[in-house]
Amino acid sequence: MRLLLLPLLAATVDLVAARAVPASHVVHERRDARSTTWVKRDRVEPHIQLPVRIGLKQNTQAMEQAQAWLMDVSHPGSESYGQHWSQNDVIRAFQPADDSVTAVRDWISSVLGEKKQITHTDNKAWLAFDASAAELETLLHTQYHEHHDAAGGRVKITCDEYHVPKHIQEHIDYITPGVKGVHVHASELRKRSFKPGHHGGYGGPFGWQPPKQRPAPHMPQNGSELATCDVAITPACLQALYNFQPLSPHAKVSPNNSMGIFEEGDFYSQQDLNSFFTNFTSYIPNGTHPTLNGIDGGSAPVAVLDAGGESDLDFELAIPIIYPQTTTLYQTDDLYYAEGGNGTTGGIFNTFLDAIDGSYCTYAAYGETGNDPTLDPTYPDPNGYTGKLMCGVYKPTNVISISYGEQEQDLPAYYQQRQCNEFLKLGLQGTSIFVASGDTGVGGINGDGAANGCLRNGTVFSPTQPNSCPWLTNVGATKVYPGRTVYEPESAVVDTPGHPYRGAFSSGGGFSNIFPIPAYQASAVATYFADHNPPYPYYFNGQYNSSDGLYNRNGRGIPDVAANGDNLATYVDGNFTLEGGTSASSPIFAALVNRINEERIKAGKGPVGFINPVLYNNPGVLNDIVNGTNPGCGTDGFSCAEGWDPVTGLGTANYPKMLKLFMSLK
Ligand SMILES: *[C@@H]1O[C@H](CO)[C@@H](O)[C@H](O)[C@H]1NC(C)=O
Ligand SMILES: *[C@@H]1O[C@H](CO)[C@@H](O)[C@H](O)[C@H]1NC(C)=O
Ligand SMILES: *[C@@H]1O[C@H](CO)[C@@H](O)[C@H](O)[C@H]1NC(C)=O
Ligand SMILES: *[C@@H]1O[C@H](CO)[C@@H](O)[C@H](O)[C@H]1NC(C)=O
Ligand SMILES: *[C@@H]1O[C@H](CO)[C@@H](O)[C@H](O)[C@H]1NC(C)=O
Ligand SMILES: *[C@@H]1O[C@H](CO)[C@@H](O)[C@H](O)[C@H]1NC(C)=O
Ligand SMILES: *[C@@H]1O[C@H](CO)[C@@H](O)[C@H](O)[C@H]1NC(C)=O
Ligand SMILES: *[C@@H]1O[C@H](CO)[C@@H](O)[C@H](O)[C@H]1NC(C)=O
Ligand SMILES: *[C@@H]1O[C@H](CO)[C@@H](O)[C@H](O)[C@H]1NC(C)=O
Repeated sequence: MRLLLLPLLAATVDLVAARAVPASHVVHERRDARSTTWVKRDRVEPHIQLPVRIGLKQNTQAMEQAQAWLMDVSHPGSESYGQHWSQNDVIRAFQPADDSVTAVRDWISSVLGEKKQITHTDNKAWLAFDASAAELETLLHTQYHEHHDAAGGRVKITCDEYHVPKHIQEHIDYITPGVKGVHVHASELRKRSFKPGHHGGYGGPFGWQPPKQRPAPHMPQNGSELATCDVAITPACLQALYNFQPLSPHAKVSPNNSMGIFEEGDFYSQQDLNSFFTNFTSYIPNGTHPTLNGIDGGSAPVAVLDAGGESDLDFELAIPIIYPQTTTLYQTDDLYYAEGGNGTTGGIFNTFLDAIDGSYCTYAAYGETGNDPTLDPTYPDPNGYTGKLMCGVYKPTNVISISYGEQEQDLPAYYQQRQCNEFLKLGLQGTSIFVASGDTGVGGINGDGAANGCLRNGTVFSPTQPNSCPWLTNVGATKVYPGRTVYEPESAVVDTPGHPYRGAFSSGGGFSNIFPIPAYQASAVATYFADHNPPYPYYFNGQYNSSDGLYNRNGRGIPDVAANGDNLATYVDGNFTLEGGTSASSPIFAALVNRINEERIKAGKGPVGFINPVLYNNPGVLNDIVNGTNPGCGTDGFSCAEGWDPVTGLGTANYPKMLKLFMSLK
């Protein structure tokens, strides 16, 4: 169901309503299509108490300026480089203007009386109050009906359209219950009051791909031996590839620079970590573990046989790079949702963002406020975590690595745009976010959309999510091919079908259909097109259905950087194994940035925050990857080339060069 969002200036109001609505009022929102799943039933009884929320128009000036603000603290040439904002600064900057709040409050009081208790939410985006159905119908010149979902047994309360005074319209985003309903249990309609209840949504593909595993071949007996890095990547191989040394195990480290790692529905085992430390490092004691920041019922570690390939991999890669710096685990969602929610979820990351920024729980943008009840988990969850949704309970770490994601096509654009705004706000506050760029090259996961996971009729490239958001750093995957050494350049991973791993694997890359190309990336991408024009037709502005093109020529390019992502030595479920995936690349690159932050903190500077503008202006601090492709959708995908490319981005880290550059900045 698509909702037509306001303002509707030339209103064609139906006759019954038209008689009742004064000329001073206008239609603010109207449903433009009937839902086939929700059936309109009885009028809501007048005494039923409804939780009313009025989303105030975000400060549009702030929304327009936000990108400039981010560049101001992130661009190497900026006077204000590194001067990140506090969370309160961010809330203040984005909050609606005071006159909006006053105008809307005055209007409510004039209709419902001065005594009506109206709350202005902590994040300033909402006015909230309770009203009976009768009161609300008077206020909005509308009628509320129950809508039943025959299949799911769910009930929601909505109206077909509602009205507000003309002079109020400019201050309001939208109102619930309105065209967008509030959900209730059928039984609650017989009570005197109710709260929005628990309900599921439609089942979308839950597109995270676990890292690919295979039984280990013979393992080199000497973990610091570099001759076998083409067989298995150990911590020693990564040190040689990216030119860094472990820190002294006794080094004094900042208590405020723990490296954050996101996990969902996949859990680490301490025994696996211990086995890894014992076999592959000399400096990490058994028992070394992340600090758990459990979110909405998420918890870890688990018994060794329940461990997941993603979590074990992430910590086995990151800890050896940063030790004795610590890691922080953001383990999200109760098992019911984390493991697929009985087919009811499709959203991802919103509960995590809620937990590290309380204002996001009720943040309104792009017509969506707070979590999306049709996509995100709802807490309390009678099937699992029975506490309240966790909002603002943890501080974001300076660096966060995410090896999860879906495809753009799996989630509505407004959901992704709202989430992307939050990534921008985290950047403003000095948090660097790294995301695995995906494991299916230019394509998607088989069966997601078309049979081969690609768009339109299975020919158009399918960009990954949240990667297409311009305000985070995407990490593609490289590989040391058989017979090559760590002293030679790496290549993009291309594991063809029939490879011992499960299926094919190539580094996720391409161009967003939702987000336009950001300024910091424009010249790098233009150079790629000028010097290495891909042999495929293309289209503009994400319009992939209305041309023969295969990719969006003016979308945000993916990835930004790369790191090793194939044949990584790991322990999972008590066994030694090799794993691959951009799942590995993200924690490796992120860990190196965590070390840079440590050096900056020691020198009295702040964390680096959003690093893309610095890197695109200084590509020389990365090892350019020039060999390889990222096949998908029946093509060879894009090709690596000198400079940025949509396979490995700007390349892999040259740690000493990156450190020197970031230390030279304010
Ligand atoms: C492992 O290899 C390194 C580098 O070649 C060498 O210095 C070290 O002595 C070897 N250790 C063992 C136990 O063989
Ligand atoms: C760490 O952060 C806390 C509070 O955020 C602050 O009081 C403390 O000074 C910081 N410590 C260091 C070493 O920066
Ligand atoms: C550390 O843990 C591993 C895995 O359980 C075990 O093999 C090893 O003996 C332990 N080392 C010490 C010093 O306890
Ligand atoms: C790990 O260390 C144990 C004990 O030294 C050894 O038996 C085993 O082969 C090692 N495993 C790997 C994968 O190197
Ligand atoms: C899963 O959903 C189906 C259909 O809505 C329902 O019958 C079943 O009880 C649910 N299972 C759990 C474990 O909630
Ligand atoms: C593009 O076309 C496909 C297949 O005809 C359809 O499923 C999809 O919804 C269309 N997408 C858009 C954005 O119009
Ligand atoms: C897919 O659609 C494009 C554009 O309409 C067309 O040129 C192409 O032949 C189609 N491919 C398949 C496999 O149907
Ligand atoms: C781990 O190794 C044991 C013994 O070699 C084997 O029985 C078991 O299936 C392996 N587990 C996995 C997950 O491969
Ligand atoms: C270049 O990449 C291809 C895979 O695309 C690989 O087979 C080849 O070995 C790589 N060449 C070098 C020099 O690593």
